[in-house]
Amino acid sequence: MPHEKVYPVPPEIAARAHIDAEGYRTLYARSLQEPEAFWAEQAQRFITWERRWERVCDWDFQRAHIRWFEGGRLNACVNCLDRHLDSRGDQTALIWESDNPAVSQRFTYRELHAQVCRLANVLKNQGIGKGDRVCIYLPMIPEAAVAMLACARIGAIHSVVFGGFSAEALRDRILDADCRLLITADEGLRGGKHVPLKANADQALRECPGVRSVLVVRRSGGKIGWTEGRDVWYHEAVAAAAEDCPPESMEAEDPLFILYTSGSTGKPKGVVHTTGGYMVYAAMTHRYVFDYHDGEIYWCTADVGWVTGHTYLVYGPLANGGITLMFEGVPTWPEPDRFWQVVDKHQVNIFYTAPTAIRALMRLGDDYVKRTSRRSLRILGSVGEPINPEAWEWYYHVVGEGRCPIVDTWWQTETGGHMITPLPGATPLKPGSAAWPFFGVEAVILDDKGKEIEGPGEGVLAIKRSWPAQARTLYGNHQRFLETYFKLYPGYYFTGDGARRDEDGYFWITGRVDDVLNVSGHRLGTAEIESALVEHPAVAEAAVVGFPHDVKGQGIYAYVILKEGVQPGEELKRELSEQVSRDIGPIAKPDVIQFARDLPKTRSGKIMRRILRKIAAGQIDDLGDTSTLADPGVVEELIRNRIQAG
Ligand code: WT7
Repeated sequence: MPHEKVYPVPPEIAARAHIDAEGYRTLYARSLQEPEAFWAEQAQRFITWERRWERVCDWDFQRAHIRWFEGGRLNACVNCLDRHLDSRGDQTALIWESDNPAVSQRFTYRELHAQVCRLANVLKNQGIGKGDRVCIYLPMIPEAAVAMLACARIGAIHSVVFGGFSAEALRDRILDADCRLLITADEGLRGGKHVPLKANADQALRECPGVRSVLVVRRSGGKIGWTEGRDVWYHEAVAAAAEDCPPESMEAEDPLFILYTSGSTGKPKGVVHTTGGYMVYAAMTHRYVFDYHDGEIYWCTADVGWVTGHTYLVYGPLANGGITLMFEGVPTWPEPDRFWQVVDKHQVNIFYTAPTAIRALMRLGDDYVKRTSRRSLRILGSVGEPINPEAWEWYYHVVGEGRCPIVDTWWQTETGGHMITPLPGATPLKPGSAAWPFFGVEAVILDDKGKEIEGPGEGVLAIKRSWPAQARTLYGNHQRFLETYFKLYPGYYFTGDGARRDEDGYFWITGRVDDVLNVSGHRLGTAEIESALVEHPAVAEAAVVGFPHDVKGQGIYAYVILKEGVQPGEELKRELSEQVSRDIGPIAKPDVIQFARDLPKTRSGKIMRRILRKIAAGQIDDLGDTSTLADPGVVEELIRNRIQAG
């Protein structure tokens, strides 16, 4: 089963790498033995502080109390822009490749700085100040990065909502964070298709009285509704604003952003990241994990709506004075060679994407790749879900031509940055393994009693000590933070993932152990999808599980119980799918809907999801113990009517 191939570090990569094998061993050991000295050094090296911290760290997992660099003062925007102006003001900071292959744009550090300062002044003119929440609902356009940095500049807390989320999902997130202002665009453009962002925003805002102004970026020029006194054209406001905007001085533990993510129960949670520790960790991991060298062109394909877009599209690369590429489009449009065309066009050196994209492109054949050069590529990265060895090998041999190490980075919205990952110049690669913990990360595997497994073994993945980019709380709900991550295994941060560690200390992430799905690298809670389904008047009850899917990693399988007298049918399935899309977004649409008379439940009424997962996966010979079922007939019927999926 485990893929036993090992790819050694290419000598030409090791020769110029920031960290080599020996460097990893000594620095890793030191990071655990003398954490305070180690992190003080990193904080000094990677970040410019207005005032030095008084205490490196102070944390207690029993209370979910986490503080880094307290007493220190800094501004994240200054670290991403201002401090680079003298040394590289005229160097490109951001390359934007639009959906249309004929259009791209470059912004130097000086230009980006000017844009950010102007927008920061617009925000201030709109009454936004330190600690206020600003919602950003934008497509992948430069204004998205500008908006994040403008918030950071004045100490406002941004909450970016992925442009693929629906009006209802947007509304819930705006309300939860009590946002004061929204930045959106008329429409998004992806693969030639229009995404009605402003229309969604208008609908969401009907129920968000706290939002007093809306800045609207003109992207498509399409027709949109307009609310006088509330809506403001972004380009007009920015043109009228001053270019000088002194940054706000922030305490290390002041919040930088909130980012919503799905959990196993309830509504999405607003993960809170603060300024100092997050910035240190973002810059350091970006430098070492991608072995980033000055002047290199770095491309992370993630949307700004996800944490990868925060840490590795905006904050990490810009903190390092790097060149970051933002892509508005999709991998398959106008043709499935788009990624590689963009690599050649902009001479990309480091490319970071998700396994789902790799698998989708792999299916379409090697020709689309081979007709491009890709000579500029040096390092490849993977993120978001386990990468299967087959996709890994294709990425390595076909895309990278056996020349580029792949960094398979395991981390989460809550971890803020990479946690388990190879380093290009230090780690021999095993396809499908995220390899070793990053500096300062003490990753452990716990057995079902919560005891640490020493050496090789399999169990749940937990982290034994804090790291600087760890989430500090869930917005407005510290109790839920404590309960979700620190209660089940006292003394540890519980990741929600399962993992195996092999004889060489390599970690193999086996996937979520809770009711969280990973669909095409998007994190979705089964509970969210279920509550969307039961909102439909025809539905009495619903249970959603994941099943293995060749391209998406996991697909969504929904079992739906209809109310008395409702007729099942294809039309109703379409309606239910639409309902989910309206409630959450198109990414949450079930792949399969099976109507059922009842669900397998224990005598106490608990749904046996384990059985539902097996049926969805087609593993019907191996249902395990069904003796506690209230009505075993239910299972037979579900199996009879199961729908072939995947
Ligand atoms: C979950 C976190 C990390 C940024 C994007 C996703 C899964 C993530 C890997 C990987 C195996 C991975 C885990 C994790 N995951 N990266 N390299 N190998 N699994 O962030 O939306 O917070 O999702 O994604 O299951 O818990 P997220």
